[in-house]
Amino acid sequence: MFGEGIVSKSVSSHSDLIPGVYEGGLKIWECTFDLMDYFSEAEIEFTNKTVLDLGCGAGLLGIAALQGKAARVHFQDYNSTVIDEITLPNVVANCTSEGRRMGSGKDRKASKPPSKRPRKAEGSSDVLNRCRFFSGEWSQVSQLLLNSNKPCLKYDIILTSETIYNPDYYSALHDTLAQLLDRNGRVYLASKVHYFGVGGGVYLFEKFIEERNRGSFSSEA
Ligand SMILES: C[S@@+](CC[C@H](N)C(=O)[O-])C[C@H]1O[C@@H](n2cnc3c(N)ncnc32)[C@H](O)[C@@H]1O
Repeated sequence: MFGEGIVSKSVSSHSDLIPGVYEGGLKIWECTFDLMDYFSEAEIEFTNKTVLDLGCGAGLLGIAALQGKAARVHFQDYNSTVIDEITLPNVVANCTSEGRRMGSGKDRKASKPPSKRPRKAEGSSDVLNRCRFFSGEWSQVSQLLLNSNKPCLKYDIILTSETIYNPDYYSALHDTLAQLLDRNGRVYLASKVHYFGVGGGVYLFEKFIEERNRGSFSSEA
């Protein structure tokens, strides 16, 4: 458990990011909540879509897609500890009937019934059959995803929040998006305008994408 030692490394370095060691997936970053609000406001449809939560951390975006009846949701994080200890348990807790029961207190000695009727949830094997979990660096993971998605399956929707903080990763991130996104697919990316101390941000990433593609990607603010 916690074989990568990222919890102690993060605590001892007083940092949420240790480049190449721990990339921040143990906490939920603010833009995830902004993107989830956007899903509701813009009524983004996940039904029957194939979705990738790239740099998923706790996996809230992928969980929203699962709850929105996506056909498949794949989760990727740099750190295996995050996938094993945070993402996967979070999917089980939020999307399966077993997890919902535990969350609603039915298995405890709670007296009050939940105020809202819980949404219909699936058994864990049904939900987990729609999910896959990957860890590792983007350039390696994209090859793994391409090779393991047989027949070669690209994503209708790629969700990614707070993943453009480090310009050193832009090339790998760009190539991953380009290789994995379906021709008619969409990337929903949430980010801070600028990441002080690391250097990345929306404008720098937009510029990078434009230079690499010269018009083949379209972006909306
Ligand atoms: C700041 S965290 C954001 C986590 C989550 N999306 C959120 O908003 O709460 C950045 C995430 O991007 C992923 N990531 C960053 N750089 C990466 C790289 N070079 N290769 C693979 N994953 C990377 C990490 O897995 C990490 O969880």
